Amino acid sequence: MERKIVIAGASGFVGKYLTKRFLASRYQVVSIARSNGGIPWNDSRKIIEALENSEMLINLAGKSVNCRYNKLNKAEILSSRTETTRILGEALSHCSNPPEIWINASTATIYRNAEDRAMTESHGEIGTGFSVEVAKLWEKTFFGFELPDTRQVALRITIVLGLDGGVMTPFKNLVRFGLGGKQGNGKQMFSWIHIEDLYRIILYIQSHKHLSGVFNCAAPTPVDNRTLMQTFRRLMHVTIGLPFSAWLLELGAVVIRTETELLLKSRWVIPKRLSNEGFVFKFPTLETALTDILSHE
Ligand SMILES: NC(=O)c1ccc[n+]([C@@H]2O[C@H](COP(=O)([O-])OP(=O)(O)OC[C@H]3O[C@@H](n4cnc5c(N)ncnc54)[C@H](OP(=O)(O)O)[C@@H]3O)[C@@H](O)[C@H]2O)c1
Repeated sequence: MERKIVIAGASGFVGKYLTKRFLASRYQVVSIARSNGGIPWNDSRKIIEALENSEMLINLAGKSVNCRYNKLNKAEILSSRTETTRILGEALSHCSNPPEIWINASTATIYRNAEDRAMTESHGEIGTGFSVEVAKLWEKTFFGFELPDTRQVALRITIVLGLDGGVMTPFKNLVRFGLGGKQGNGKQMFSWIHIEDLYRIILYIQSHKHLSGVFNCAAPTPVDNRTLMQTFRRLMHVTIGLPFSAWLLELGAVVIRTETELLLKSRWVIPKRLSNEGFVFKFPTLETALTDILSHE
């Protein structure tokens, strides 16, 4: 029988990559989605059927946070995460042969703005504000389910670097047009993960059956914003990089309908649990990750 994986949010940046990788490993990938031929969220019978005898459930669904945080968007950012998680948890509790593991996306934004020290799973401090509240409720919904036959793992994902999506295109465009200087004071930390390492982390956790709970998904060497932009400029052979002050970013964010938090929050997160467990990163430094991604364009 073909090995089956169920992915919710498979049409997104991360989901597409994971789908491609699992298909290449001869898995059958079944998606739950709002469209694109996936099982619709309101069809609980089909969702249960898909989960029966599957090896793993991965839930990546959630409205993109790259928008203005107005009332409507905020409500959808939250509900698209908690509701999808709730639907999946309920479906799993109705399965007679559920997957052995359920991996749910979460976000490293759950930690506070950190300029003083790195946040780990055991010694990280949870922050405050809208994005943090979303992350807390997302994880609370997820861990609210007690599933005797299914391990539960929440991935606190940092900024994902990869081809065809995420932050690479906007960063590259800034650098290309000579605007790739520091943003704000440049001291805010940038924690990141190469998309291939995110996939490898999922495989690692899947095959190490004693693992469950929360995992920081970050490369072990976060950098500050100044170093981030310097590395981009160097690898793209661009010498000029005009900086963006915080107020200019604030103005720009309104114009392009996004939030400065995405650029200015200091995210200093390290993968303590993964390192303790012996996970080895394929792209441990920003230089290795960006060199790889830029060489594939
Ligand atoms: N990319 C990052 O840097 C990053 C960092 C931290 C955390 N994460 C989290 O990891 C997950 C995957 O990230 P991504 O970059 O792949 O996100 P993405 O490209 O925005 O894709 C997320 C998927 O969620 C589904 N979705 C969107 N709005 C929805 C709604 N209102 N209701 C239900 N489903 C909805 C969509 O799938 P369908 O169209 O198929 O329904 C979409 O393809 C997200 O939950 C994100 O918050 C990502």
